[in-house]
Amino acid sequence: MRNLNAAVGAVLLVALVGWLMIWVMLPTKAYKNSWDPNLSSTHFNSVYFQGQGTNLLLFSFPAMFIAALGCVYLHFHTRLQGPFSSSKREVKPKLISPLWRPYVISPLGIVTGVELAFMAMFIALLIWSLANYLYVSFGHLHMHKQGEKIWQAKFRSVSLRLGYVGNICWAFLFFPVTRGASLLPLIGLTSDSTIKYHIWLGHVSNVLFALHTIGFVVYWGMTNQMSEMLEWSRTYVSNVAGEIAMAIAVVMWVTSFGRVRRKMFEVFFYTHHLYVLYILFYLLHVGADYLCMILPGMFLFMIDRYLRFLQSQRNARLISARLLPCGSVELNFSKCPGLKYNPTSILFINIPTISKLQWHPFTVTSNSNLEPNNLSLVVKSLGSWSRKLSQQISSSVDRLQASVEGPYGPISSHFLRHEELVLISGGSGITPFISIIREIIFQSSNPNPQIPSRILLICAFKNSTDLAMLDLLLPFDGTPHPIPELLNLQIEAYITREKDQPTDSEKQPAQTKRFNPAQSDRPISANLGPNAWLWLGAIIVSSFALFVLLLGVVTRFYIYPIDRNAHDGSYHYSYFILWDVFLACAGVLAVSSMVFLVKKRRDLAEGNRVKGLEVGVSPQPPGSFVGEVESVPVQCVAGATNVHFGRRPDLKRILLGCGASDVGVMACGPRSLRHEVAQICSPGSAQNLHFESISFNW
Ligand SMILES: NC(=O)c1ccc[n+]([C@@H]2O[C@H](COP(=O)([O-])OP(=O)(O)OC[C@H]3O[C@@H](n4cnc5c(N)ncnc54)[C@H](OP(=O)(O)O)[C@@H]3O)[C@@H](O)[C@H]2O)c1
Ligand code: HEM
Ligand SMILES: *[C@@H]1O[C@H](CO)[C@@H](O)[C@H](O)[C@H]1NC(C)=O
Repeated sequence: MRNLNAAVGAVLLVALVGWLMIWVMLPTKAYKNSWDPNLSSTHFNSVYFQGQGTNLLLFSFPAMFIAALGCVYLHFHTRLQGPFSSSKREVKPKLISPLWRPYVISPLGIVTGVELAFMAMFIALLIWSLANYLYVSFGHLHMHKQGEKIWQAKFRSVSLRLGYVGNICWAFLFFPVTRGASLLPLIGLTSDSTIKYHIWLGHVSNVLFALHTIGFVVYWGMTNQMSEMLEWSRTYVSNVAGEIAMAIAVVMWVTSFGRVRRKMFEVFFYTHHLYVLYILFYLLHVGADYLCMILPGMFLFMIDRYLRFLQSQRNARLISARLLPCGSVELNFSKCPGLKYNPTSILFINIPTISKLQWHPFTVTSNSNLEPNNLSLVVKSLGSWSRKLSQQISSSVDRLQASVEGPYGPISSHFLRHEELVLISGGSGITPFISIIREIIFQSSNPNPQIPSRILLICAFKNSTDLAMLDLLLPFDGTPHPIPELLNLQIEAYITREKDQPTDSEKQPAQTKRFNPAQSDRPISANLGPNAWLWLGAIIVSSFALFVLLLGVVTRFYIYPIDRNAHDGSYHYSYFILWDVFLACAGVLAVSSMVFLVKKRRDLAEGNRVKGLEVGVSPQPPGSFVGEVESVPVQCVAGATNVHFGRRPDLKRILLGCGASDVGVMACGPRSLRHEVAQICSPGSAQNLHFESISFNW
């Protein structure tokens, strides 16, 4: 089995390299003069696909193949490892290669050497493409207007090719926002850590498209062809559609800069949804051939987006909430035992009574092995959304309607393989570490556990009430859990905004409020993807196959006959693209809905069993409103905790003092804290520190 999966992995690698090589070949003379004409001229291609077959075959097919086979690989990969367990501790070289070490680079944030290398390769691809396109184009320059000067024709050619190069960015733009994707985990990435690639690609493509647009406007101005601006051609690209797309892009672009995003997240969030229109007009502008080059990213995103939509249509079963003295809220959902997730997973939540449109991501703090029937997470009161949430919970409602998307997370708990683990958090950044420590607690109960020999948690909080977050480190089920003996856990807490221990050190208790969920509220069940790779693979294969089939049939029996008999040249260029978009959506919607319904029936059965269990456990009769119950404060971590007042931790001293040869260092919290930790772990500093940042990075 293991060998078979290794073989599948090798096939995936070859396919990936092959697909990338086609992108490298695309701008060359060989591609233009021999590959493309040879493939495009086949009768089959022109009758069934109107020439789109070439790009479908060379660009779409390999990426869809990788995505689908990747699902198979991941299915067996998680099986072989034991579901959601840690990977084996590897015999690691003493020195961590500079490639894996972090660099802090001002506009980019924290990047690893590998990321820098890939970035350099991508930029090289863009430059290579532009240079080759121009080389081929300047070789036999096309004059578009009589009396046009050579330099004007060259100016036009450069403007056009900048657009082509921007299109390459679009081929990759959508992969990082496909949350349940199979492609990201294949190369060890999670969707929340890859948003930054989306951001970079978005900026680069916007710059290129802006230059492309300005270039053409200037060219038309120079050559007295301003009327071109109003052209919506029947037979070639529509200029008007391109201008509309660019106008939308500018609005999206302006609102997506870091400053706007952080200060006015809602403005960014709502405006960003213009992407639907942007994509439509973009495609109307570039045409079917270019669509088929960049199709896979969009197609997979559409599948993911639609599955998310389906998941969010049901209400999640919220059973209780715990109000911590520091103002944070722990939400406790019911879940199907079949749903497994790894530590540091993220759940997106929507509470329609607060806002129908806003979704907010939170780290899941519970552990799917320790708490098979519940899923909990912590919401800190930071913005207006979370404040309203606290208010609603404190008010007298007895049910809170909520929908969820996710959980999404890494496919293995790789952090367990380090010899020592140092976890550094600021404020609410402690939540992913709660999930990690709970995983280690679970692992330590296994025979022959493979856990780090020492775990150091350094947490900075503003106020001493925030120390209540530490109570969450141990799973809570009414009775206090002791820290397992095997676990060598040391906690250093820093209270930065208080000089001394407060005199009234009476600890306020947390307050628990039980809800009375409606009959229709479902326990959270696995979304397709991480818990059901084969289902996802089946959706990918069959929806793509359905799309290609429908496209072939429509083209052969509807478009081709019209095209052949048309007096004025051909079938309308824009209608053709609308067909593509329509058929792709139809393929995705039909197949995904069907698979989702089949799976939902199984989930319903499992969900009902869970609900039955819950009623048995609850001391209250179902349907009654219980109100607030005080919980026992858990004091168990106190013994392992040192609290320091009035200062921040001296991170440099602590990290450089770690003696083990392989220390995993994880940081979560405010940007400056993550950057400081990354800086300490960067090359040129200590050789034994292996850095990992966790953040949604927005
Ligand atoms: N999975 C995730 O990605 C995840 C999960 C939860 C939270 N978060 C993020 O974590 C951040 C936490 O924000 P918050 O408002 O909860 O935090 P906060 O209340 O502002 O607390 C931050 C704490 O960290 C300290 N600190 C800041 N920079 C530091 C540095 N360079 N070195 C040492 N200590 C430092 C602060 O000290 P001073 O008082 O001296 O400033 C303060 O005690 C948010 O940005 C949130 O988005 C991410
Ligand atoms: C080139 C134009 C761009 C297009 C077509 C585009 C498209 C998208 C799409 C389709 C999503 C997924 C939305 C969802 O999950 O529902 C997304 C998310 C996101 N984009 Fe862009 N984007 C573009 C440029 C940018 C830029 C320049 C930034 C820079 C900050 C950016 C930042 C983000 C972020 C942070 C998210 C995550 C939001 C979420 O998951 O809800 N995008 N974008
Ligand atoms: C969530 O609720 C269940 C059922 O009432 C309970 O057993 C569990 O301990 C709760 N978990 C948390 C984290 O409050």
